[in-house]
Amino acid sequence: MSLFITFEGIEGSGKTTQIKYLEAHLRKKGFRVVLTREPGGTYLGEKLRSLLLKGKVKIWPYAELFLILAQRAQHVEEVIVPSLSEGKLVLCDRFSDATLAYQGYGRGIDLNLVKNLNNIATKNVRPHLTFLIDCDVDLSLKRRGKGRDRFEREEREFHERVRNGYLSIASSEPDRIKVIDGNKKKEALKREIIATVEEIILRHGIH
Ligand code: TMP
Repeated sequence: MSLFITFEGIEGSGKTTQIKYLEAHLRKKGFRVVLTREPGGTYLGEKLRSLLLKGKVKIWPYAELFLILAQRAQHVEEVIVPSLSEGKLVLCDRFSDATLAYQGYGRGIDLNLVKNLNNIATKNVRPHLTFLIDCDVDLSLKRRGKGRDRFEREEREFHERVRNGYLSIASSEPDRIKVIDGNKKKEALKREIIATVEEIILRHGIH
């Protein structure tokens, strides 16, 4: 039995560090793990990622949405579905919830439209478990480095809308999405995440 776990959160929430901790832990236990990310995860997806994050041209909200969906459709076909069918544990740094949070709540595109298009791009593949690492916008802004990407350059209100969007998504799907307090220390987050995943692995009888 396979398992699909995603990590979400605003910039600087620490999700990328935590997903790597989880990957290392699961590999040590002998699981076959695929660590991937969005935007990205495939050759095409990584090209689109650099356009989306570092490109110099202005990208309009619907163009941004379709580029994100294009990389997702490619990623689902090329990596996620094949890995899950081989019984692997797939860990993905951001997935469809990010589109609802950023392009829906953040950019203001109709939420139902985003949900419907997401279902097409993912072929209705959904994570079994999602960690939303929630942190204050202040902390997020403080953790931004100098070489800021297109999203990191957005104004504070954008990040507030994305954070609140993520929290609404989480409250509408409490069984799938576990909200973790990203203001806590790294080690505490790591223990909480590993404990949650181990419980699911036991429950699903994954080996
Ligand atoms: P990250 O490395 O922080 O995960 O950067 C990816 C950026 O892409 C992040 O700022 C959010 C953005 N993004 C969206 O806007 N929509 C999406 O669906 C995804 C997957 C990412």
